[in-house]
Amino acid sequence: MRLLPKIANNTLFWESLILINDINNGDIYHNVTKCAVVVSFSKYIFMENETITQMPRIGDMAPDFTVITTTGPLTLSEYNKGSWVVMFSHPADFTPVCTTEMSGFAKEKDFFAKNNAKLLGLSIDSIHSHIAWVNAVHEKTGVLFEFPIIADIDMKISKLYGMLQPGESETAAVRAVFFIDPSGKIRLIMYYPLNVGRNMAEIKRVLLALQTSSEHSVACPLDWNPGDKVIVPAPKTIEALAERKKSNLEMVDWYLAKKSL
Ligand code: BEZ
Repeated sequence: MRLLPKIANNTLFWESLILINDINNGDIYHNVTKCAVVVSFSKYIFMENETITQMPRIGDMAPDFTVITTTGPLTLSEYNKGSWVVMFSHPADFTPVCTTEMSGFAKEKDFFAKNNAKLLGLSIDSIHSHIAWVNAVHEKTGVLFEFPIIADIDMKISKLYGMLQPGESETAAVRAVFFIDPSGKIRLIMYYPLNVGRNMAEIKRVLLALQTSSEHSVACPLDWNPGDKVIVPAPKTIEALAERKKSNLEMVDWYLAKKSL
């Protein structure tokens, strides 16, 4: 097998020429994946049709885009100005788990607004399908999806954000959630498979935990919830250690100390 790398539109394509006929598909996949690692393209994942696309990670700036949504054209960097963005993908319109999830986000509209976070949905469906689904859910249940939903019919954003994971589905985005802070940085990513719905309580909890840790320069321990104590950074000098020992902090050990906010 010969691999010829080609770069176009931020996407690295591997053109492969199969010279040995008796290699099965699994071997080809394995070899291509290994080759991508060897040449240090660790930021890239193997995608369908031997296409490798970049997958954003925590700490990266969210790749910008302009798209068609159910509330009109939207540019992420504009939408993100001055507020957090919770961007989430779902596999398909008119499907049961997705309907429960999108309704869950819609019902929490006031929570997200109160906490300076804007919602942004996405699926690989047309704008007409989105509008028909929004209308159907509204008519049947009274719940209106007021937040914008991206019509990612050409899969551009799904691929850009690693929402299309071919081992799970080659045509539907997995259930991803990207928490993007007001500076445009990706702060937390969740991925769920097609057949397991997300947990709204956890989505709300991590948004508040991210905001709390940023605002107060602290960390949030296991199962942290608003009102719980937070972890203060460990001392970095002997002098700071001595101060820590004299402090009123709740101290398990010198490196694990908590305080109320
Ligand atoms: C659902 O939302 O119910 C669903 C969508 C795609 C695959 C499986 C389930």
